[in-house]
Amino acid sequence: MSTIQRLHARTILDSRGNPTVEVDCFLDNPSSGSGQVFGRAAVPSGASTGSHEALELRDGDKAVYGGKGVTKAVANVNGPIAKALKGIAVSDQRIVDDTLIDLDGTPSKSALGANALLGVSMAVCRARAAGEGVSLWRSLAKQFAVEGAGLLPVPLMNVLNGGKHADSGLSFQECMIVPTGFDRFADALRAGTETFHALHALLKKKGHVTAVGDEGGFAPRVKDAAEAFDLLLEAIHAAGYDGKIKLAIDAAASEFCEGGRYTVDGRSMTSAELTAFYIDLTKRYPIISIEDSHAEDDWDGFADLNQRTGSAVQIVGDDLYVTNVERMRTGLDRKATDAILIKLNQIGTVSETVDAIQLAQESGWRAITSHRSGETEDTFIAHLAAGLKTGQIKTGSLSRTDRVCKYNELLRIEEELGRDAKYIAPF
Ligand code: PGA
Ligand code: ZN
Repeated sequence: MSTIQRLHARTILDSRGNPTVEVDCFLDNPSSGSGQVFGRAAVPSGASTGSHEALELRDGDKAVYGGKGVTKAVANVNGPIAKALKGIAVSDQRIVDDTLIDLDGTPSKSALGANALLGVSMAVCRARAAGEGVSLWRSLAKQFAVEGAGLLPVPLMNVLNGGKHADSGLSFQECMIVPTGFDRFADALRAGTETFHALHALLKKKGHVTAVGDEGGFAPRVKDAAEAFDLLLEAIHAAGYDGKIKLAIDAAASEFCEGGRYTVDGRSMTSAELTAFYIDLTKRYPIISIEDSHAEDDWDGFADLNQRTGSAVQIVGDDLYVTNVERMRTGLDRKATDAILIKLNQIGTVSETVDAIQLAQESGWRAITSHRSGETEDTFIAHLAAGLKTGQIKTGSLSRTDRVCKYNELLRIEEELGRDAKYIAPF
């Protein structure tokens, strides 16, 4: 049986040029010819973080990387975590993750840092897959008893960036295109990419800036959400995909909520008025998904919108749930949403992330595997989406390698699956 021989963490840079944690995991694997097996993983980082997320440990020394250094988290991996995990078998991810959780001992993982724990948790998954000699997605499917894996996720592509991710002035953080009318992931990706290029040409023609925001989407100065959606529909039409590409929003509403009121594109609204605003948008545009429509503790706002949109539009909780099954249970009780965004670093271990995915699936909710706005070249989430059959992925726009590397990995997974690959849009 393979056991953990050595863990080694280092500081690397994420896509915003901020430090983050990368972990190498070496297994002692008697069954492999060369003796030693290796897995590596890097931890992402959010900007519009939910207040209930697990703690990302930063050094706080303003003289170094503006306080964003991760040397403490790195030292926690190389010190106490490496010591506690040395010699542990990797056949059961839950035992590895429970050891990490117990060692930290706090509900928010603030003692060792969720970034330290997650780097190790993911690197162990990668090392196990290497030891098994299979792709990570296959190894994850086996580890978490997923039957009939082979579903490629429908991408929610963030081609117009606003909120905390860009200076576009747009209140909604993400205006996305969703290629639904296709039978293969590769065709969906092509259609989304052609639409992205059509949008580029359109923005240029209209005299907008074509610089991109944190997730590789454009950040033109538009006056409101309606103008953003008009641009997207025009681009979809120009690319020749009318009806085959739908629209989605991540409002990230906690960021524009103050004292119980919401300010959207200069207009101040109550929670109920914001709900009416969304309903109106869904009547005017082919919107199939709204994420974080309301602030992270406005349960009534979510529940009201969810009830009024029914199954026609999925309502997604991101900051609302922070990939935490306890918060999900409140959401289930209150019928607050019918979908959840899944982010590994919101909760801090792979097992707990899978718990959230599987609770969603058992409860009839949809689950969307997601990147963070600060990313690396790590493609773990592409494998998580395919291995756990989440059916949807949110990994940014069609530019910048930190985003595109996940799409490219999904192309490889689809190729590996061959005739067994499935691409099914649930909308
Ligand atoms: P974040 O944004 O990674 O900055 O939190 C992504 C999202 O809100 O979905
Ligand atoms: Zn979000």
